[in-house]
Amino acid sequence: MLAVVRRTRHDDFMIRIRHLTLFALLVLSPGARGQTANPAIVQATAAMQAAIPRAQADPAHPIFHVTSPAQWMNDPNGPIFYHGYYHLFYQLTPFSDQSGIKYWGHVRSRDLVKWEPLPIALWPSTELGEESIWSGCCTLNGDGKPMAFYTSIGQGKSPFDQAVQWAATSDDDLITWQKSPANPVLPAAVNNGTNIYDWRDPFIFHDRQKTFLVAGGHLAQNGDAAVNIYEAENAGLTQWKYRGVLFHIPGAPTAECPNFFKLADQWVLFVSPYGKVQYFVGDFDEATCRFHPRTQGFLDYGSSFYAPNTMQVPDGRRLVWGWVNGFPGGHGWNGCLSLPRQLSLSRDGQLQQLPAAQLNKLRGAPVQWRNVHLENGGETFALPKTNTLEISAQIDLSTAKDIELQLQDGTNDSSPVTVSFDGQELQVLGAKAPLSVDPQARILNLRIFMDRSVLEVFANGTVCLTKVISPFNSHPALKIHAQTGAATVKRLEAWPIKTIW
Ligand code: FRU
Repeated sequence: MLAVVRRTRHDDFMIRIRHLTLFALLVLSPGARGQTANPAIVQATAAMQAAIPRAQADPAHPIFHVTSPAQWMNDPNGPIFYHGYYHLFYQLTPFSDQSGIKYWGHVRSRDLVKWEPLPIALWPSTELGEESIWSGCCTLNGDGKPMAFYTSIGQGKSPFDQAVQWAATSDDDLITWQKSPANPVLPAAVNNGTNIYDWRDPFIFHDRQKTFLVAGGHLAQNGDAAVNIYEAENAGLTQWKYRGVLFHIPGAPTAECPNFFKLADQWVLFVSPYGKVQYFVGDFDEATCRFHPRTQGFLDYGSSFYAPNTMQVPDGRRLVWGWVNGFPGGHGWNGCLSLPRQLSLSRDGQLQQLPAAQLNKLRGAPVQWRNVHLENGGETFALPKTNTLEISAQIDLSTAKDIELQLQDGTNDSSPVTVSFDGQELQVLGAKAPLSVDPQARILNLRIFMDRSVLEVFANGTVCLTKVISPFNSHPALKIHAQTGAATVKRLEAWPIKTIW
């Protein structure tokens, strides 16, 4: 039986490598895109192709999180639903598995389940003096034309005080892009004499027939983080007016990758301040262009989640993806995106995050248990024999002081992945998140996703913790302990999770 399992997994793996190598030859090849001339893209494509076999063969490379086929990636950029596809772009360094000069990589999906890698979408126009294409957004302009906005770093220019914002347009399915002749669409002069340091990461939103853009940075050389706001002055979105500071982020050094959007009847701001990603929920005064938050919190407590970007999908829901970072270097790849998380607000204005429902389609055959009573001790549950899986558990803490889940790798002695909860705080591998439960009904709902080297934990729809881990072998087990008292595992399910490619 074991031999059969091994052979099947190996076969799957080889098919995947073949598939990706073919993809690399056919789809990434500049000739196939009629782009033979530009040296930036020819060299980048060749570097990607060379790195793909190693990256794909690495047993730590995630299979159900969006990744680049190879090399370094960071922030998700420009998520947009357009012509029946969900598009995601991402920061990509095609020449290395360490951070360097940035391009925009590209993937798309019809259903948020299966994804298709696409050619590099944007690269530095070296002939126009560009050196690096940093983070940004996509939108449709007033003429219905798709546009990408991003931070452009010029050759020999410092991102600290010389960045500008550029735009590009697309006439097809966002595969080929033309830089706007109006670049930089937001030159430093747009700020009317206000010095904005680390000025970057444009994000566009629309409100009451108006189009606004926010970009992060700080107003003092070493602090005063500010989300700056601009209003579009033409339908083509090439002329902008500075409306000042939407919001100063208290105590933060800077405000990278701001996202500002309406959720139900509230306004939500995300910022990445070189630390845990913060959210604020409150009111937007459109007349003064100022934001007045009422509540705030963190998107993820695991220290491996950064620079998230959001997409509004056709039914109005808003999804977010973050950059999962902290992988060991030297494997031909580095970085992935988080799972898509669906956002909502609780009645008291706290951000709620759930894995997008479409992810359920990636589940294989379940194993499940019901109503397992635990008293001052534990039970062990055999999980699907894979290191790409989801565990969903509902635990009634009842009289137990705390509860601990230990994910153990059955085939070696590596230390277990522990998730514990004491009624007030959730801990995942030492990272801590405040989490309160109703004292009458002490219920903990957990969704745990393990994708080789990525662990994403969702607790009670509110708290998320993302961690990079050493990949397990394929015989994981789950031990659940109740300490000092009794608890009931009301429901426990686990599924192997299939690849998104
Ligand atoms: C966030 C960030 C952005 C910047 C990009 C460069 O991780 O620093 O502010 O645009 O990465 O890759």
